[in-house]
Amino acid sequence: MNKKQVRVGMVGYKFMGKAHSHAFRDLPFYFDTEAVPVLQAIAGRDAAGVREAAEKMGWASWETDWRRLIERDDIDLIAIVTPNNTHAEIAIAAAQAGKHVICEKPLALTVGQALHMLEAVKKAGVVHMVCHNYRLGVFEATRSSRGNRAGNRFEINGEKGSIRWDMENLNHLQVYLEEDEPGLQGFRTISCTEVEHPFAAAYWPAGHIIGYEHTFINLLAEMMNGISTGVSPSPNFEDGVRNQIVLEAVEQSVQTGQWVKLPEYTGNLPSFKEQSMR
Ligand SMILES: NC(=O)c1ccc[n+]([C@@H]2O[C@H](COP(=O)([O-])OP(=O)(O)OC[C@H]3O[C@@H](n4cnc5c(N)ncnc54)[C@H](O)[C@@H]3O)[C@@H](O)[C@H]2O)c1
Repeated sequence: MNKKQVRVGMVGYKFMGKAHSHAFRDLPFYFDTEAVPVLQAIAGRDAAGVREAAEKMGWASWETDWRRLIERDDIDLIAIVTPNNTHAEIAIAAAQAGKHVICEKPLALTVGQALHMLEAVKKAGVVHMVCHNYRLGVFEATRSSRGNRAGNRFEINGEKGSIRWDMENLNHLQVYLEEDEPGLQGFRTISCTEVEHPFAAAYWPAGHIIGYEHTFINLLAEMMNGISTGVSPSPNFEDGVRNQIVLEAVEQSVQTGQWVKLPEYTGNLPSFKEQSMR
């Protein structure tokens, strides 16, 4: 099937720029959407910085003025990941140029500004979205609550039970049910990235939480550093051999029902080969 290509122009490229670039790149890996993003261009103000960011995050081109991005006819969607005081001007200009708009939260600085933005996208008939990638019921400033890093939490309490969630533990939901037997009542931990939950089936099989994918990025970073320095990172094939020795001993033990003494591999390959062939 021919996928519709949505050519994205992203304004800003720091914290949220990194998160959005990653999401635009990875989306087709997980979701079979009919429209797919193309990382067409980013805009910043500093030429060296924006060029470096474009290269690093996989964008095809870059501009030093967001207005130029909006003028381009090879851009379908403007992603706004700049500070809040810039959202309104960029979003309204993007809508007026007929671009779809996705904007970081909060949408604007004031209700009046937000209404102008809404008016602009409605008039243009473009698709619009605010990046509430999670929505919270409680406001808490972690910068003034010491010890909390991204301590964004919600808790909902009702007649029949309660649920609570914490951003720093985002794969888990705490659930309390009043109908539980007295004496056994209490919060239970539910893994909310099991395949039965919304969106979760697109990612990993049961038990493989969100974040699992990042372990592969860490691994590949080690491999790339290894190629640069010429030193194989650990675990490498030496460790693989030690692992294999244990696995083989397990098989032998299963067959014989006996303890197996492990041959020791100390890193001297010729001597180990000779020893194990004896
Ligand atoms: N959804 C979330 O989870 C989440 C998390 C953090 C921040 N945010 C929101 O994302 C937005 C950006 O925050 P951030 O933390 O990424 O900020 P940041 O300071 O890390 O990045 C802002 C970027 O905008 C660029 N920029 C600023 N003014 C510009 C201009 N006039 N033209 C072009 N580029 C300009 C900066 O150079 C930088 O690249 C804010 O609206 C913030 O509230 C959302």
